Amino acid sequence: MPTNPTPRDNFGSKFGIIAAAAGSAVGLGNIWKFPYVAGENGGGAFLLIYLFFVLLIGVPVMMSEFAIGRKGQKNAYGSFSLIAPGTRWNLIGFMGVVAAFFILAFYSSVAGWTLEYIISSVSHRFAGQSPADLERNFIGFISSPLKPIAWQLVFMVLTALIVLAGVKKGIEKYTKLLMPVLLFLIILLCIRSVTLEGGKDGLAFLFKPDFSKVTGKTILFALGQAFFSLSLGMGALITYSSYFSKKENLASTAVEVAISDSVIAILAGVMIFPAVFAFGIEPGSGPSLVFITLPGIFQQMPGGDFFGAVFFILLAVAALTSTISLLEVVVAFFSEELKISRRKATFIATASISVLGVFASLSFGPLDKFTIFGKSIFDLLDYTASNVLLPLGGLLIVLFVGWFAGKKIIKQELTNEGELRAKYFLAFVNIVKFVAPVAIAAILIYSIFWGGLG
Ligand code: PFF
Repeated sequence: MPTNPTPRDNFGSKFGIIAAAAGSAVGLGNIWKFPYVAGENGGGAFLLIYLFFVLLIGVPVMMSEFAIGRKGQKNAYGSFSLIAPGTRWNLIGFMGVVAAFFILAFYSSVAGWTLEYIISSVSHRFAGQSPADLERNFIGFISSPLKPIAWQLVFMVLTALIVLAGVKKGIEKYTKLLMPVLLFLIILLCIRSVTLEGGKDGLAFLFKPDFSKVTGKTILFALGQAFFSLSLGMGALITYSSYFSKKENLASTAVEVAISDSVIAILAGVMIFPAVFAFGIEPGSGPSLVFITLPGIFQQMPGGDFFGAVFFILLAVAALTSTISLLEVVVAFFSEELKISRRKATFIATASISVLGVFASLSFGPLDKFTIFGKSIFDLLDYTASNVLLPLGGLLIVLFVGWFAGKKIIKQELTNEGELRAKYFLAFVNIVKFVAPVAIAAILIYSIFWGGLG
């Protein structure tokens, strides 16, 4: 019985498509990671290199994923099976499903922390804490056995409820609501930050290019960050684009999503660095910037608990629109390939990812001594997905599109069966055939042999 038990849902509007795809792209990667990575790697110099990669490689890879998904009209695995029947290219899609599973397991753990920090801000729990207290409390919280897991599960259930409601009534409806909220909150915090006395130095730190800090590693780092931030290489955008209408202009959608993602990453820097400088804090505080440094800064600001709560709500919203896209990859795969209802698929996916997620969370506490290949479970999931599966997925996707899928099929998708002009097509083909594979292979080799970029 080859029929699909549930009829295929799709997006109902152009804004819905942009909100969902940009929602996937904009996440912890933009707000938590981008600012400190840029800060440590030459500020404006890193920004220029990053934007160059987003345009030169990110956009063409995104267009490739869109073309595969919309042509295939199926989950990441099924879309490859449809375009290249009888071949093993569908393993790229399968790898994407595995990557989504792994990323969601550790990402939901950090996403859960944002909920704890919203509550802490609202209930004035940070009041009067010194930076050392804040650090101790953060470490105490993430290493405790129950609380982080409870928040992680809350986050997973929230994600699952939205995914369960379907593409139009769940994903589209909520991302259309959440993305404008996110933009509003980030602009509010940017205004607060740049109007602090002494904040200008923070802007200089972020925007003034310091090319002396740029090394080969910075360049690869910028490309790796572009991939993660744009949600490329793992089938999230293949899955989403399988719900796009045949009228959607894939190239302009890719450009719009890439611009939105980059603008939010830059705004995140504008929100964070002026505040960091205004209070004379060392900017290169790494990953703890968000959970230790920023609460300390909020404490010194008038209305700090309010702005703190706003900041962690922003972070939670950004994470939620990304976890939705990660869960959808797995749910679409389960429901279409195992031919089960969306309900059952959502339940199985959420439960199994949560089990793995609990182990990821516990690796900051009770399981911190438990390591595989010298890495905690959290780090191993992060490393395998972000440094191996995403770049490998991206490499195989461009090889597939550039060399195997057939120019005709791809051109048909990019031009909507000849209705749109695609003056860029020759440049696109050359990028996916030559430039992108070489650049992505470089990050992959670097990641595997030199221990990763993260
Ligand atoms: N792009 C998201 C971020 O920057 O936080 C992370 C992510 C979401 C990666 C979805 C991959 C993905 F499929």
